[in-house]
Amino acid sequence: MSQNLQLTDQGQLKHFLSIEGLPKPLLTNILDHAESFMSLDGKTIKTVPLLRGKTVMTLFFEPSTRTRTTFELAAKRLSANVMNININHSATTKGESLLDMLRNLEAMAVDMFIVRHPESGAPHFMAEQVCPGVSVVNAGDGQHAHPTQAMLDMYTIRAEKGDFSQLKVAIVGDILHSRVARSQIQALHTLGTPDIRVVGPKTLMPNDVSHMPVSVHYDLAQGIADVDVVILLRLQKERMQSALLPSSHEFYQRYGLTPETLKGAHPKAIVMHPGPINRGTEIASEVADGPQSVILKQVRYGLAVRMAVLSMTLSGQQTDKTRGE
Ligand code: CP
Repeated sequence: MSQNLQLTDQGQLKHFLSIEGLPKPLLTNILDHAESFMSLDGKTIKTVPLLRGKTVMTLFFEPSTRTRTTFELAAKRLSANVMNININHSATTKGESLLDMLRNLEAMAVDMFIVRHPESGAPHFMAEQVCPGVSVVNAGDGQHAHPTQAMLDMYTIRAEKGDFSQLKVAIVGDILHSRVARSQIQALHTLGTPDIRVVGPKTLMPNDVSHMPVSVHYDLAQGIADVDVVILLRLQKERMQSALLPSSHEFYQRYGLTPETLKGAHPKAIVMHPGPINRGTEIASEVADGPQSVILKQVRYGLAVRMAVLSMTLSGQQTDKTRGE
């Protein structure tokens, strides 16, 4: 993934497509910006005029509850005009290509597209095609990346644990199909996490896992031993081409996080999950709703992180030399 496509000549964001290639100061800047937006949470008036007059469109070619809603709310809190395109009722169903759709929506003077797509690379393709001054933000593409999810996860870890320099973090479950895991690993590594582990069955490990800055564990107890953070992932059955697992029940027996198995982590470990959770498959209800769970905090922080990404991306566009060419 090209770094230059995401950044202006001055190193500011103009698209947000992937964590890959983004420097540590920029990631830290996103977290700091998000922290400033968190102060709006307790206010009666939660809007700020940073994106007044801007038009933001969300294009979700896959289902979403958290990401689409928090992006929409984030854009509204920044005073942008927001349109959600219902893909199932759009001309896509009549055979219109992604590029033709993009050209037509661009003709309406849209400033930003927020896109989720089943094909890896679709947001990158759109970013290459849009006019100068228009931003594309990736809300999850295939098995490739989910960068704002990774950033809200980094925000949660920083809020709960301080800095990253001493942390042990385990990512457990379906690593193979998870765009979230890929983005989390890149973000954790860039922010200086020394001990990143991936835990799951061999059949759900990516082929290129040996090139990632992680240790690989096939045993849950070994993988989460003494960790500060346990991040669980759901089984992405919709992306499984063949029978990669005997059954959800067997997965739960071997990799499910229960009050018993969680005892192997550090006593103050936090439990995270990007959602949607599947209770009784990767996580027990007692853990999901228990005192170590920060799953709903992740959602709350996600709104502030998405406000940070939207405002930084559109202000990067305004200072970009290519604008208006
Ligand atoms: N974590 C996440 O992407 O959730 P949604 O699919 O609900 O957006």
